Amino acid sequence: MDQRHHSHHRPQHSNNHHDNYQSSFKRDMDDSGGGNFQHKRFRPGHKHHQPTGPSTPPSSPPTQSLSVQRQLYERDFPLYKQPVEVGHFSLDSERRFFNDARQLRYYVEPEKSCPNFNLRDGYRGRFVKRDDGVKEKLDHILRWILANRSKLQSKETAASSSPCALGVDIVTWRGHLTKLLTTPYETREGWLLAVTRVGGTLYISEVETEAARQDRENRTERHEEMMYWGYKFEQYTCADDARSLPDPGGVVNTNEAFCTVVQTRLAEHRLLFSGEVDCRDKDPQAPSPPACYIELKTSLEISTPKQRSNFHRFKLLKWWAQSFLPGVPRIVAGFRDHDGVVVSVETYHISKISQLIKNETNCWKPTVCMNFCCEFLSFVKSIVTEDNPRDVHLFSWEPHREVTYSIYRDSQYSFLPDWYIREIHHPHPPQT
Ligand code: A3P
Ligand code: MG
Repeated sequence: MDQRHHSHHRPQHSNNHHDNYQSSFKRDMDDSGGGNFQHKRFRPGHKHHQPTGPSTPPSSPPTQSLSVQRQLYERDFPLYKQPVEVGHFSLDSERRFFNDARQLRYYVEPEKSCPNFNLRDGYRGRFVKRDDGVKEKLDHILRWILANRSKLQSKETAASSSPCALGVDIVTWRGHLTKLLTTPYETREGWLLAVTRVGGTLYISEVETEAARQDRENRTERHEEMMYWGYKFEQYTCADDARSLPDPGGVVNTNEAFCTVVQTRLAEHRLLFSGEVDCRDKDPQAPSPPACYIELKTSLEISTPKQRSNFHRFKLLKWWAQSFLPGVPRIVAGFRDHDGVVVSVETYHISKISQLIKNETNCWKPTVCMNFCCEFLSFVKSIVTEDNPRDVHLFSWEPHREVTYSIYRDSQYSFLPDWYIREIHHPHPPQT
């Protein structure tokens, strides 16, 4: 991988369930891990956003679509600054927000390399599932921003013309960025991203596609149960504090979450995003966040060369993108059989994943993911140039198509709540 990739950032990290990583999950559901890239050519639209230069000249009108074709993004790795944790928050068993780390858990290494964890245990009687029909949009991040404005505003931004200037270009969930990173390789699921500009900052919030809603409402019983397995693995490997042990007899409640808030820069885009973190290294000497964080995953055990290749080509792409973004350096993966029994546990270092996949033919490239994301953000900036909390530009993408958009005012897509707009417009005393 490119030099800059190494020097600027060795991230990694975990998802939150605002992260809709349905595609990786569904591929996993197949249990075969199958699926092939398709090499359809895109149909270039007229007035096409040129994904080569940093920006279009100020005089030219904004282009109307953005190509997702991989070859266009095969160039040097863009600058991606080491993400810095600027804060964190917790959501309790009832999804209440706390501006602290009460939900952070500590990783406890399994005693045996073949731990025999039964991931099906507790599904019937000790499981409280978050209602994924409730769309929280960016609300938790917005609450965090209001509670921590002083940490964000540099003297420069506080002195600037707009009282609501946050000093960042983009506010979003890590999971939305993960989707952007994997878009050039996605052949199954499209996305919708709503964008509103306030105080010079672009807020990006996902809208569930009709297809995703149908999938969610028509999950099979097995699918529902398998979605529990990943959380059960977390319970087998995490303790509530650095000195205690996991409690596999407890209740799994997927409302609970610990989220990191990180700041970083992708080329010229200053980003502020949040993502759920599964746990941290329990050693008090471990490096400071996000470097001490650990992402937990489960996957079907690999028994054939075909399965290994699919794991590298499809699953590691999602795993890498999710953790690289916030700078989480490690993934601990529990490999399970078809009955949900974990038969082995392995650690993946995010910085080594590109090495690991190098011999795979037709494989994904980190640079394509990052360059596409960067171009998408430039495309959004060129289109959403006016501040107005009532306006939403809805960016839409379907596999084998280009990214396009449409504009709405006071619609069902508006997502910035009044309590946020009111508060953010109050001048805030700069931190001294
Ligand atoms: P796995 O990671 O073992 O697949 P995360 O890994 O991002 O921390 O997510 C934790 C778990 O959420 C996943 O475990 C999986 O069990 C569950 N999950 C995966 N995809 C999901 C989806 N689309 N919706 C809800 N939950 C999902
Ligand atoms: Mg996880």
